[in-house]
Amino acid sequence: MSQTFTKAMARNVFYGGSLFFILLFLSLTYDTHSEMPKQDNSANLTEKVAKGKRLWEENNCIGCHTLLGEGAYFAPELGNVYKRFGNSKQAIEAFISSRPREGIKGRRSMPQFDFTAEELDAISEFLKYVSEIDASGWPPNIQG
Ligand code: HEC
Repeated sequence: MSQTFTKAMARNVFYGGSLFFILLFLSLTYDTHSEMPKQDNSANLTEKVAKGKRLWEENNCIGCHTLLGEGAYFAPELGNVYKRFGNSKQAIEAFISSRPREGIKGRRSMPQFDFTAEELDAISEFLKYVSEIDASGWPPNIQG
């Protein structure tokens, strides 16, 4: 058997390999495009959710918290906080509005933001919306 790697062999490896990966790329692209619409919950994207998102940004919640894994690791993940708090917007609002102004001595604590009832409603609506995003099972457990 000849030990030489001929030009024809190199060409076949090149074309064969290219074809294989082009087909793989196209089939994965097709798969993504057919799966993504099933995960779309933008129909629930109301004006109130958008207001909650703005408050989330203006108050830099992400500076301490993660949301679906993105953000800072100082405070709990909030992507599933709505579920963690028993599917209750009221529980989230009560938590946020009851934070002590002077903080909690000796442990990490959440600031008091002095939100109005309307703002609290928008924030908890935003967190409810986020909890309903199909993130393929992320976060992996209810603690976040
Ligand atoms: C300075 C850091 C910091 C910022 C900024 C911050 N938080 Fe927090 N947050 C915390 C900490 C620390 C906790 C955990 C407190 C505890 O358990 O007493 C917490 C807890 C929470 C919880 C309860 C989570 C749970 O599972 O117990 C919610 C809801 C929450 N924050 C919402 C918000 C929202 C909304 C914002 C923005 C408006 C925000 N946080 C901004 C530090 C922060």
